[in-house]
Amino acid sequence: MTTIDVQICEVGPRDGLQNAKNLMDTEAKKRWISALAASGLREIEVGSFVPPKLIPAMADTGDIVTHALGISGLKVVALAPNIKGYERAQASGAHKITFPVSASFKHSVSNVRMTPDEMVAQVKACCALRDARPLAQRPEIEGTVATAFGCTLQGEVPEDEVVRLAIALVEAGVNSVALADTVGYANPAQMKRIFRRTREAIGMKLDGVHLHNTRGLGLANALAAFEEGARAFDSSMGGLGGCPFAPGASGNVVTEDLVFMFESMGVKTGISFEGLLAARESLVQALPQEPVYGHFSAAGLPKGFQRAA
Ligand code: COA
Ligand code: ZN
Repeated sequence: MTTIDVQICEVGPRDGLQNAKNLMDTEAKKRWISALAASGLREIEVGSFVPPKLIPAMADTGDIVTHALGISGLKVVALAPNIKGYERAQASGAHKITFPVSASFKHSVSNVRMTPDEMVAQVKACCALRDARPLAQRPEIEGTVATAFGCTLQGEVPEDEVVRLAIALVEAGVNSVALADTVGYANPAQMKRIFRRTREAIGMKLDGVHLHNTRGLGLANALAAFEEGARAFDSSMGGLGGCPFAPGASGNVVTEDLVFMFESMGVKTGISFEGLLAARESLVQALPQEPVYGHFSAAGLPKGFQRAA
């Protein structure tokens, strides 16, 4: 297996499809996830264990996880919003379970009907469930500090609150913490400042960022985080995505463009451009009415482009 410099986690099957206008049927999801993995993506957030009545697009997540676990070398990620979601995710065999813990009080209540501290308490209880299992059967738990750069419901989110929650999540027992710009409010200077402050507080437990491109700064923010030491990035094919409980949230940073940015800098992703374009074709076929975005897919590779060896 080739070495990589950054780990890109494709979140389209979760963040993208939870917000898509139409449902993607289960077989089409499986084909799309297989095509994504075939492009070299080694980590895919394949769905969420939320009440099916609340987000019908995620009703088949158990089935999707089972399919994804059959793909060799793939780290299968699922989102859980509470203990019940964690128990379902753990039973599914997902390798990594991620929790949205909003630093905005208003978004937290809107998204999970819990305060940020109540959410941390849920994560702590799930870490205890994880630790009660034999070592080899423990999933990784990630706490994502959501709305870490601002919130459409609340406006400003205090940086101290982001850092406080990151520390609380580490104390709760998570394996890693990520910072999410849920509604696309971040700018690169802010990204650098908050990433650095959080690293100072929790060290390498902070490994990644989850970015939305609502105001066109997704790639600039990714680069800013990379320069501060981030090596794990969430992104979404075609720039799908958005939280249904955060008004104004639109798509994630586009996977194809993020891969192109890194590869053109000589930063290895392990992902093939041809493979990404094939997976994009499978997405477009499955959801023909859904708008898909991206610059790389429209423009292609520059003449004479060479990947770093
Ligand atoms: N999976 C399946 N069912 C669940 C569930 C889960 N993770 N969590 C709760 N439920 C069920 C309960 O069993 C209960 O069922 P019943 O009505 O048949 O008794 C019902 O849902 C309500 O449970 P409750 O604990 O009162 O939940 P709630 O209505 O307060 O909702 C959350 C809280 C966290 C479950 C919900 O807000 C949620 O899923 N939020 C996540 C939203 C999201 O995915 N956002 C985008 C990603 S950031
Ligand atoms: Zn998101």
